[in-house]
Amino acid sequence: MACCKSSAAFHIITFFFFFVIFLKLDLSYQISTVESEDCTNRWIYVRWLPSRFNFDLLSNCSAYPLFGDFCSYLQNHGLGPKTHNDSHSWYRTDPLLLELIFHRRILEYPCLTQDPASANAIYVPYYAALDGLKYLYGSETNFSRQHGLELYNFLRYDDQPEIWDRFAGHDHFLVMARPAWEFSQPLHVDPPVWGTSFLEVPEFYNVTALLPEGRTWPWQEQAVPYPTSYHPSSLNLFESWVKRVRNSRRSTLMLFAGGGGVGANPNIRRSIRNECKSNHSSEVVAAAGGGGHFNKVCDIVDCSNGICEHDPIRFMRPMLRATFCLQPPGDTPTRRSTFDGFLAGCIPVFFEEQSAKSQYVWHLPGEMYDEFSVFIPKEDVVFKGLKIVDVLMSIPNAKVRRMRERVIELMPGVIYRRHESTLGLKAKKDAFDIAIEGTLERIRSKLKVSSQ
Ligand SMILES: *[C@@H]1O[C@H](CO)[C@@H](O)[C@H](O)[C@H]1NC(C)=O
Ligand SMILES: *[C@@H]1O[C@H](CO)[C@@H](O)[C@H](O)[C@H]1NC(C)=O
Ligand SMILES: *[C@@H]1O[C@H](CO)[C@@H](O)[C@H](O)[C@H]1NC(C)=O
Ligand SMILES: *[C@@H]1O[C@H](CO)[C@@H](O)[C@H](O)[C@H]1NC(C)=O
Ligand SMILES: *[C@@H]1O[C@H](CO)[C@@H](O)[C@H](O)[C@H]1NC(C)=O
Repeated sequence: MACCKSSAAFHIITFFFFFVIFLKLDLSYQISTVESEDCTNRWIYVRWLPSRFNFDLLSNCSAYPLFGDFCSYLQNHGLGPKTHNDSHSWYRTDPLLLELIFHRRILEYPCLTQDPASANAIYVPYYAALDGLKYLYGSETNFSRQHGLELYNFLRYDDQPEIWDRFAGHDHFLVMARPAWEFSQPLHVDPPVWGTSFLEVPEFYNVTALLPEGRTWPWQEQAVPYPTSYHPSSLNLFESWVKRVRNSRRSTLMLFAGGGGVGANPNIRRSIRNECKSNHSSEVVAAAGGGGHFNKVCDIVDCSNGICEHDPIRFMRPMLRATFCLQPPGDTPTRRSTFDGFLAGCIPVFFEEQSAKSQYVWHLPGEMYDEFSVFIPKEDVVFKGLKIVDVLMSIPNAKVRRMRERVIELMPGVIYRRHESTLGLKAKKDAFDIAIEGTLERIRSKLKVSSQ
């Protein structure tokens, strides 16, 4: 690997150059093309930040040895390299780059304004999780309580303070690409334990943070889907994928793609592994329920040590063959695999509400869960001996078909389509569009309350 370092660095610098130039061009292009949109109550102003808060963090992509080098995933404006040269929609996407993906997408948002006073929301293009790495894995671990304070000082005092002061920051929002607990270190613990205190410092109480997982009692944050590896750019590409998903033969009843559960302590991932082991995969089952006839009761895709993260082929094919995808909590309650499963038309099985229902309320409304997912309380499986297989097999075939159809209908809203998609695909709201709508609505209602 050492041989290629300098040439990789060169590519990254070239990439940057184009990235920055491109963003500028794109911005001016967009502002001149808004006439056809109704932008009432939807204006967004992008705050200018010095590059140390965003682009410089990208150029430091190899500077976190404990975390790993993420330089190659910066390609395609954060979508990562394509999985294959001839792939249209599949990328090796690193979820950490959600901040960059959002930034790129916001620059083609049709209702950007250059006048902060007329904006309904203010986007802060700060790469919060990338900046957080230095507190988690870098030289600044002893200063993790100060994460964000430099940004705050800039927003509040250095650059056009009137933009913050107008609504005391209540109209500002940003994206943080890692779960909230990594940014929720209590302020008064000494020495620092883990995480940064970005979401705990009063300076940011008023700012809306979009991230892939919120806390149990979220305050300023809202969860949005993890980015998957699928980023189509046209309606044709998307529709042919949907067709493939719909026609896929589902020969496996249930699948778990993930790591963990190999220790001796009772936990839901261990129960899943045990159930799969005892129902040996070669066993042929011809069952009446659970959605049809299966060759396999259970399939496990071993994703230990992050081997699946940048390699969607490992799990997408098995997911396309599975009827149900088990989404147990891992190190944290949520998992990206929930959204990979959606793409494959694989019906999610959740074991706690924190895994999705209490999180993605903008993208997957709570009252719909029975229509597209199965809920099995993890305690019933781990401690009361309930078999997941039995629960799934008892679901009538017609109901399974309806659930899969619902999953497919919800799919557009949980994917991040590629920047510069065709108009046809733009007409379908994707995860980004829904996140922006939700943010505008949230800010609108906050400002209404505070003006009363
Ligand atoms: C990038 O890394 C260098 C060397 O580790 C460090 O001095 C610099 O402050 C970093 N820049 C940013 C923006 O994090
Ligand atoms: C993919 O494209 C790159 C650059 O165009 C080329 O160097 C590489 O050999 C190609 N890989 C395959 C498997 O075709
Ligand atoms: C953090 O502080 C502790 C105790 O003061 C010290 O031992 C450690 O070296 C410091 N870590 C870094 C990365 O500076
Ligand atoms: C947050 O908003 C409240 C009013 O809702 C205000 O009193 C407070 O100063 C604001 N905080 C900051 C850091 O601007
Ligand atoms: C194996 O699968 C069958 C359904 O085919 C189920 O009834 C049984 O409980 C499963 N056994 C275990 C140990 O999970």
